[in-house]
Amino acid sequence: GDYAGQYRPQVHFSPPQHFMNDPNGMFRDANGTWHLYYQYNPTANVAGNQHWGHATSQDLYHWINQPIALFPPEKNVFIFSGSAVVDRNNTSGFFPNQTNGVVAIYTLAKYGSDGSPGPQTQAIAYSHDGGFHFTPYERNPVIASNSAQFRDPKVVWYEDHWAMVVAHPQEFVLGIYTSPNLIDWTHVSNFSHHGLLGLQWECPNLVRMPYYGQDGQKQADMWLLALSINPGAPVGGSITEYFPGTFNGTHFEAVDSVARIADFGKDNYAGQFFHGLSEEEDPVFIAWASNWQYGQTVPTARENWRSAMSLPRRSHLTKADRVGWKWVVRPYDLSPIIGQTLAFNESQTNGTTMVDFSEVESNAVYWEANVTGIPEQGVPATATLNFTFLSPVTGENIRGGYYFGGDVPFYLDRSGVRGFDNVFFTDKFSTNSLPHDGSWSMSGVLDRSIVEVFLNGGVDCATNTFFSTQPLTRMTLSTSDLPKGMRVSVRVNALKSAW
Ligand code: FRU
Repeated sequence: GDYAGQYRPQVHFSPPQHFMNDPNGMFRDANGTWHLYYQYNPTANVAGNQHWGHATSQDLYHWINQPIALFPPEKNVFIFSGSAVVDRNNTSGFFPNQTNGVVAIYTLAKYGSDGSPGPQTQAIAYSHDGGFHFTPYERNPVIASNSAQFRDPKVVWYEDHWAMVVAHPQEFVLGIYTSPNLIDWTHVSNFSHHGLLGLQWECPNLVRMPYYGQDGQKQADMWLLALSINPGAPVGGSITEYFPGTFNGTHFEAVDSVARIADFGKDNYAGQFFHGLSEEEDPVFIAWASNWQYGQTVPTARENWRSAMSLPRRSHLTKADRVGWKWVVRPYDLSPIIGQTLAFNESQTNGTTMVDFSEVESNAVYWEANVTGIPEQGVPATATLNFTFLSPVTGENIRGGYYFGGDVPFYLDRSGVRGFDNVFFTDKFSTNSLPHDGSWSMSGVLDRSIVEVFLNGGVDCATNTFFSTQPLTRMTLSTSDLPKGMRVSVRVNALKSAW
């Protein structure tokens, strides 16, 4: 792959060439290697002809593209999304005398010769070499069906058995199945009609997730059910919603009936959690950083690729003031890609920090701003903290920031870039983010055609793609109308290209 293009992310994963969508089969092996598979069309820059592409990494930022892992088994049958597990104890019987056997569990999507869809069934394939080459199970499918809408199995280990969650997208039903061996599956419960329905439910995930109190102390282990809606998301097209709750190995119970959205931007879909982490670790999540409303028409095709993944995100649950349960995300340890400090100001109160990063080869930066000393009598509504990324050539820009008065609205605006004209490419986003521990924070990564922001330690986040005609190479971070006593510390770092 050629990773030099103007739109090519330098610290995010994107495929060597052609079209990618959902992350699939993610796991970390016993040697610490992270495996990422993904929905891949190796022959075009739009979806279709689905395979599983494959890449590996030691740190979740530097990826090595590997040979395609799963191929369509016959004409008009494609490999749709799914998951992978390490079958350390050889429950399947595929792996005598080895502890690093990998089983992929995925949907076989069949089409008629006239292109009519269905059926979709669940199948498995096994790998004796740690996830590089797979053999389809001889007696696939392992879960048969006549439905054209039955897909995206995600498997986890629960105490003494495997548990799968799989979607009946147009019925808004998730089926939960259990198995002793990854081959024989028993339907044990359904989860249905919760939260936002949209028009389809896809890519469900069940994951154990720690709940930390606001003091940072672990309170309990809980479960999170994440699921992807497409089409029909509130902001249009595709988005992720989630339900905190409990899981007893067969049944998932949500803490309440509230619909919670994972991201207030528009490019966070079909994500999944890595298998193979210990129970002491926070789960790690990666999503497809795009949206089915426009993902197949973005201008990156002129560089012969389409779509990138989100940053890897450590996750936990917390209870925020007023709004309650929140799925909190923070970028996974960025130190392998953090470069030189471009700006650092411990106390910028009412002023502007300007950074010219045109000399930074990756054209990617990390920034953060922390606001403390909020006066008891409150903050005027005119008090702001804004950031702008700018092309000095065309004036194109991405901007965002806080208006501190009242319930603290945060905005993100990609209307100032001109490289992509599409009516569904919504350009303005906002959320309200409450202070945490008497302070506000934001941090983010700008990476050529992706911007991600994390508010208040990751209690809120937004993921957005953008396509400027010229690179954005200048950043300003400015504060105004802050009352006495309020302090803002700012930092901007170059990011080192991982490609
Ligand atoms: C989600 C999805 C999945 C399906 C895959 C096909 O983006 O529609 O439901 O398995 O993409 O590529």
